[in-house]
Amino acid sequence: MKNSDGMLKEEALKGKTIIVTGGGTGLGKAMGQYFLELGANLVIASRKMEVLEDTAHELAEKTGGQVLPIACDVRKYEEIEQVIRATEEKFGTIHGLLNNAAGNFISPTERLSHRAFDIIVDIVLRGTYYFTLALGKKWIALQQSGTLLNIVTTYAWTGSGYVVPSACAKAGILSLTRSLAVEWAKYKIRSNAIAPGPFPTEGAWSRLLPGDMAQKFDPALKNPLGRVGDHQELANLAAYLMSDYSAYINGEVITIDGGEWLMGAGEFNHLESVSSSMWDQLAQSKKDK
Ligand code: HXC
Ligand code: NAP
Repeated sequence: MKNSDGMLKEEALKGKTIIVTGGGTGLGKAMGQYFLELGANLVIASRKMEVLEDTAHELAEKTGGQVLPIACDVRKYEEIEQVIRATEEKFGTIHGLLNNAAGNFISPTERLSHRAFDIIVDIVLRGTYYFTLALGKKWIALQQSGTLLNIVTTYAWTGSGYVVPSACAKAGILSLTRSLAVEWAKYKIRSNAIAPGPFPTEGAWSRLLPGDMAQKFDPALKNPLGRVGDHQELANLAAYLMSDYSAYINGEVITIDGGEWLMGAGEFNHLESVSSSMWDQLAQSKKDK
């Protein structure tokens, strides 16, 4: 058994239809692939149809599953309604939604235009509540149960400089997740979130660690486990939260970051840099007193 192996039983998602926003690239693609391997029908939705079509083709070949790519800008409610209609036409009932689409870049906040702030909040927060609202209304009208899963970040609760629009938007999603977990439980709609730490993707690395920043600020070095995440580790968690195995988990945000955010938070964690001989000297000086 390896951490990069699939974890759930075969057919754990058989018969389920799951929509993944931003499913053409990066982590959305990795999670979508595992949903397919577990028997789900997959819908991937984002702005670039060519990217979606290539991914749909690749994943269908790899897994033998059914993938429907649909162009959709999650900032546009009518386009989301169109994704829902097309999904129902192709697969019938929709069982799950993974709100994964995002935009992000690093910048001192005072250098941002209000449009730059808007663009991130609109993709991340507005996109998530639009899709959640459109599908939630449908599920409630049809008396159909459903599973919502939102991708946030660990700075959704700590905040973070230099990615302030993203931090504001992810904090909003966290609040949406917990609020609806209670309000919509009566409709048998569960709502959970995952907060990933660093998982290398072209999309994130090119925008958050451009140039030689990936070497200068190697995310593995500020992680207590000394490494970044493997996509399958995230896919395992997402598949579990999408599946009926997690039927009693509702309103939870599960962190998967190797302990990274706590390393930054613990008051004395910097003592990690104290060498063994320095600890010996300290112990000796205490004895000498
Ligand atoms: C400052 C910037 C900027 C930058 C764009 N803008 N990039 N401002 N620094 N690096 C400003 C522009 O000047 C413009 O404002 C406004 O933002 C809109 O820019 P456009 O280029 O017109 O937008 P668009 O082409 O729609 O691109 C959207 C995008 C782009 C968000 C800027 O990066 C994108 O498509 N991203 C999608 C994928 C992505 O970001 N993935 C990473 C997710 S990683 P003005 O005022 O000039 O009009 C993630 C991980 C978090 O979230 C945690 C990691 C551990
Ligand atoms: P990514 O590959 O850049 O994924 C972002 C996706 O969002 C892209 O497929 C993009 O597709 C889509 N998207 C952007 N704007 C959109 C819009 N307006 N409408 C519809 N789709 C849109 O980056 P990633 O690293 O896999 O990120 C995936 C998720 O994980 C994000 O929520 C991110 O915040 C989160 N996350 C990532 C990390 C990490 O270390 N990688 C850590 C914490 C959290 P189009 O360009 O085709 O629209």
